[in-house]
Amino acid sequence: VTGAVSVPGLVRECAELTCHGSAVRCELELPDDLWPAEADAGQLSQVINNLLMNALQAMPEGGVVTVSADNRELGGDDGTGLPAGRYVHLRVADRGAGIPPETLPRIFDPFFTTRRGGSGLGLTTAYSIVRQHGGAIRVDSTPGAGTAMELYLPASRRRATPADRPGPPGRAGSGRILVMDDQDSVRGVLESMLRHLGYEPVGTRDGDEAVAAYRDALDRGEPLDAVILDLIVPGGKGGKLTLRDLLRLDPGVRAVASSGYADDPVVTCAGGDGFVASLPKPYNLPRLSDVLGEVLRPGGG
Ligand SMILES: Nc1ncnc2c1ncn2[C@@H]1O[C@H](COP(=O)(O)OP(=O)(O)OP(=O)(O)O)[C@@H](O)[C@H]1O
Ligand SMILES: [Mg+2]
Repeated sequence: VTGAVSVPGLVRECAELTCHGSAVRCELELPDDLWPAEADAGQLSQVINNLLMNALQAMPEGGVVTVSADNRELGGDDGTGLPAGRYVHLRVADRGAGIPPETLPRIFDPFFTTRRGGSGLGLTTAYSIVRQHGGAIRVDSTPGAGTAMELYLPASRRRATPADRPGPPGRAGSGRILVMDDQDSVRGVLESMLRHLGYEPVGTRDGDEAVAAYRDALDRGEPLDAVILDLIVPGGKGGKLTLRDLLRLDPGVRAVASSGYADDPVVTCAGGDGFVASLPKPYNLPRLSDVLGEVLRPGGG
């Protein structure tokens, strides 16, 4: 859902959340006359958070991160690759170690990370969200001096109204999502994507495990918020049969069908067989985020 988003408000909230309690100080240079951006506030705050997190992690000893913004009128020939128009330009600059030239071309690649425990999805997410918004993201890094990430977001023609104000920033999603996929690698990818979107994944390998996990959660009084079921599990109970069992446990279960075969009828027309949505493989973050946003909305799906 996009609307006219007031970027300074969003940045302030993200910066407070991210920098709070860290050794890094955030300096904000946000002019009062900044155009609103045409954006999904939840997704945009995720982008800003990912950039801020990277900046913080680049300065483990502490330091200053500068977030600045200004209005840019682009002419369509300025090397950004963006069509002419009005953009909000946002820059997150750290004074960390910088990015060596040989890794620079890879930082937006899924799962590229140089950090222990990193998933390498932070910038991938940022990139795809910004692209989906019709904007661009650029990096300018000098080894030894620091890194600046720059965003261009299309300005909104609308006025930022209080109704368009974002909800709580940071984690765009929340809730526990059961995942069933027999392939460890595929399940692992989906789990890290879910974590990146703010959800808590519960991984299972087949229908029996999925049903048991769902029942456990119900028994504990902590029902799962949605399930993503692989339609095809060789030698095991696939998504359709699993959902039949889940519906017996909980007629309100919110189930998403996933399949590598995009032409499976359940995937092509969401809503078949009790599924409320579908998700073709390979997974991509914006799509996953959209589908879960729909499915988890009260009354949605
Ligand atoms: N501000 C920065 N300074 C130095 N290196 C950076 C910066 N931002 C990104 N990088 C490099 O790009 C890589 C990919 O970043 P990305 O945010 O996608 O993943 P990550 O930070 O490693 O993991 P995650 O975001 O999932 O926690 C990082 O591992 C790091 O090598
Ligand atoms: Mg990161």
